[in-house]
Amino acid sequence: MLFDVSRRGGIDPFIVMEVLRAAGARARTGKPVFPLQIGQPSTPAPAGAREAAKAAIDGQVLGYTDATGIEPLRRRIAQHYRERYGVEVAPERVAVTPGSSGGFVLAFLAAFDAGARVVLTDPSYPCYRNMLAALGIETVQAPTGPETRFQPTPELLERLEGPIDGLVVASPSNPTGSMLPPDELARLAAWCHERGVRLVSDEIYHGIAYGIQEATAAGSPSAIVVNSFSKYFSMTGWRIGWLVLPEDLPVAVEQLAQNLFINAATISQHAALAAFDCREELEGNVRRYARNREILLSALPAMGIGDFATPDGAFYVYADIGHLTNDSMAFCQRLLDETGVAITPGVDFDRDRGSRAVRFSYCAATEDVEAAMDRLAAFLRRTG
Ligand SMILES: Cc1ncc(COP(=O)(O)O)c(C=O)c1O
Repeated sequence: MLFDVSRRGGIDPFIVMEVLRAAGARARTGKPVFPLQIGQPSTPAPAGAREAAKAAIDGQVLGYTDATGIEPLRRRIAQHYRERYGVEVAPERVAVTPGSSGGFVLAFLAAFDAGARVVLTDPSYPCYRNMLAALGIETVQAPTGPETRFQPTPELLERLEGPIDGLVVASPSNPTGSMLPPDELARLAAWCHERGVRLVSDEIYHGIAYGIQEATAAGSPSAIVVNSFSKYFSMTGWRIGWLVLPEDLPVAVEQLAQNLFINAATISQHAALAAFDCREELEGNVRRYARNREILLSALPAMGIGDFATPDGAFYVYADIGHLTNDSMAFCQRLLDETGVAITPGVDFDRDRGSRAVRFSYCAATEDVEAAMDRLAAFLRRTG
């Protein structure tokens, strides 16, 4: 018998994971690797979170929880919105999810039917496009450029053809690190709300910003906010995130979560609750990202890679390297093979224009970032 893989299963790979695999294979042969490819803090979960996890293992059954998470964590997340943004969020509007990735699946399923049309900007985080495709939701790609700092605007949305049901924004963005100022996010949220367009605001890089105030869409009556413990809280592998839902969605999300995941890992929920009290350690990580950012902002232009929007937040630089190649995939492969420097080809983020772009992630150890810049400069001298 011959069986077919479903069309939904035939989505594109998340290329950065493929680069990660290639870098891992190289490391296993004993060759050095300078990991500027993945958006993963090089630090573990903060000490307080690790302690809470150990105590939970020793002292608790760690069985299933409510599908939307333990109440103390949902209350703590609600408190975070009050303290950090001055926005009142009822704990019932918070759903704790298996990473923001699990949160996106729940949000997309709850908000959109198959066949709905959801706008994504180019460049943007590739899993939005791939997840929506797997769910049978159509994506409308809206190219953005430096003139809007790679962020969407109401004017750009008005120029799109055909009806739209949703919009995904990320501020700070992956891959560019650019942010929507509070008034621009508010203008977008109001535009979407008035037209019945569901705004999904990816805020997973909040906490990692360089002198710019982050704004949340949690105050909008119809927007869905997606967040995570992966980045600022340095807990990627714990697979825990959260949603802040508008009034019409908590029941749908809860029922979807009950059936799809049951709950986010219980041990991670206890660790995440404690992570809110680890600010000092976490702010230390942000200071390191800020130092690494300065290294890239001076090293890259000095080697002729200067065409990028200065990142406001997150830990990425997305640079045009059209003067070096029109095949960013081959460029990244050769760079890895010859120098051990791992970066991500732009095709992951922008299928059309990304063949001329690459993303540098600078959340690695500062020594690795410095060594990567030295090796990249030597590579360009040799090949240029
Ligand atoms: C913009 C963006 N959103 C969502 C995610 C998914 O993160 P997680 O599932 O670890 O919360 C990532 C991961 O890199 C990301 O960069």
